[in-house]
Amino acid sequence: MCGIAGYIGARSAQEVVLDGLRRLEYRGYDSAGLVLHKNGKLHLEKYAGRLSVLEGHIHKNGLGAAHLGVGHTRWATHGAPTDKNAHPHMGCGGKFAVVHNGIIENYAKLRGELRSRGHEFYSETDTEVIPHLLEEAYEGDLGAAVAKVAKRLQGAYAIAVVAEDDPHTLVAYRQYSPLIIGLGEGENFLASDIPALLPYTRRTVVLEDGDLAILTTEGVRFFNDGEQVEKKILHVTWDEVAAEKGGFSHFMLKEIHEQPRALRDTISPRIIAGRTNLATEIGLTKEVASSIRRVVVVACGTAYHAGLVGKNLIEQMARLSVEVDIASEFRYREPVLDPEDLVIIISQSGETADTLAALREAKRQKCRVVAITNVVGSSVARESEHVLYTMAGPEIAVASTKAYTTQLAAVTLIAIELGLARGTLSSAKAEQLLSDLLQIPALVEEVLLQSDYIRDVALCLAQSESVFFIGRGLDYSVALEGALKLKEISYIHAEAYAAGELKHGTLALITPNTPVVCLFTQTHLQEKMVSNVEVVRARGAKTFVLSNCHPQVTASLHDMEIRLPAIDPLLAPIVAVVPMQLIAFFAAVARGADVDKPRNLAKSVTVE
Ligand code: F6R
Repeated sequence: MCGIAGYIGARSAQEVVLDGLRRLEYRGYDSAGLVLHKNGKLHLEKYAGRLSVLEGHIHKNGLGAAHLGVGHTRWATHGAPTDKNAHPHMGCGGKFAVVHNGIIENYAKLRGELRSRGHEFYSETDTEVIPHLLEEAYEGDLGAAVAKVAKRLQGAYAIAVVAEDDPHTLVAYRQYSPLIIGLGEGENFLASDIPALLPYTRRTVVLEDGDLAILTTEGVRFFNDGEQVEKKILHVTWDEVAAEKGGFSHFMLKEIHEQPRALRDTISPRIIAGRTNLATEIGLTKEVASSIRRVVVVACGTAYHAGLVGKNLIEQMARLSVEVDIASEFRYREPVLDPEDLVIIISQSGETADTLAALREAKRQKCRVVAITNVVGSSVARESEHVLYTMAGPEIAVASTKAYTTQLAAVTLIAIELGLARGTLSSAKAEQLLSDLLQIPALVEEVLLQSDYIRDVALCLAQSESVFFIGRGLDYSVALEGALKLKEISYIHAEAYAAGELKHGTLALITPNTPVVCLFTQTHLQEKMVSNVEVVRARGAKTFVLSNCHPQVTASLHDMEIRLPAIDPLLAPIVAVVPMQLIAFFAAVARGADVDKPRNLAKSVTVE
């Protein structure tokens, strides 16, 4: 989604802002722009397309050194990705420049009012109402004008503003969309996400809803609702190198290979002397666990798929009924919740607008909420009473990989803890599962060693129009994630089906040579699965089997087979998804797709 980077200080604002925007490229965008305050004037450059287009124009036009600037990468919501609609936007007089993430919901009404007062609009964006409103609100104090304008805006947004009349100030305001201030010595920074700040400072302040920040070279002042407020400084420990490609061709490939480390960091600290420590970490004590009547998991996309695995595990281990909901559906359905429900919110970024709304709804209905997130200081983390952090480190590629497997590890730990505390999982089984869980990073390493063969499988699928993924039980949940990965980065149509469900309609689409990826990790379902695979092979399908069952089970069932290491079926999803991530990656590369920044997609979806 859109990115914001801003700077005030002695360095070249152009360089810092462009560097910041480059570090936010992973969020997905379709146009880019920046404004610099130089020689008492605002200089604007903005273009549809990649940052390189903007950089080309800047170099051609020779903007030169300036010490105050703000830039933006736009992911179109209102108006097509064109030069005109790119940010910053500047009102009629060109005295203010505004960049904005999020959506101004009442922009049409504001635009009508402003037009009736003589303002002329240049773009089709919702954002452009802001500089026009600033023209009316400004009386020599930029912070006061932004605060006044913010009162008129509805929706979720983060904005950064500079004024031609004020070369010493950069103002930022947050309402539901993330914005982070980076604190320096004689210089200050702002950005919509932490990676943009990493080369310059580790001292950050995460703005809360309604916070206004006034940045000068001397410092940053924070206000909320007209009152000056003190903010907590958060020290970011993320390593800058962790946000670089580190020798890999793509962030996605690097992140797939980081999974053993990410899993180790997520699992090991939570297992102490053969027991989990979630009772202390997220308050899942015996009393709490026995008072829970139902579990509701809410998330989007890949995180939702992690929730589906969680449902299966929690139901099996803790004998609790679990519902899993897509956050964008949940929030408008007037969900029936009960204070005895445990609501598990899963979000890598912790900023997904729909997931955040679901969290707020669960809190409003007084449920116990546990959030699983990867980002310390994110909105989900700050608003949840209990947070289980995945230790994936920064995930830059749009397609989620290490966040997903660490989310699986987190839900597995919760299921084991709930099962133990409720007496529905024997200590012996829990001990075995925890000990196996500690082996998972090594098993993922084993799968990664098969990358060359997995690439061969991917090349067989790469030119197909449509690929099916089938499995039963937990394998079906993982198949959904495998299909999503293939769709989003290779643009091959892919569908995941519960293998037993194919015959109820979808089998009509299986024709000679249709590729079908078949998962075999659920030993108790393997015979059923064999029949389901026979059925697609009888229709001429090409079958690509992922299996850790005895080789004889699948010997006559595959065109190609990826062997998976042996593991308890309850833990198999964490390992089984890895070859599917690699298949999607290699197929996308073979098709020449922009793997890390797939078309139309954004990393952190902060709009509805
Ligand atoms: C797909 C993907 C998305 C996200 C979804 C939720 O690879 O990454 O489906 O999982 O947008 O994002 P978070 O987890 O940040 O809430």
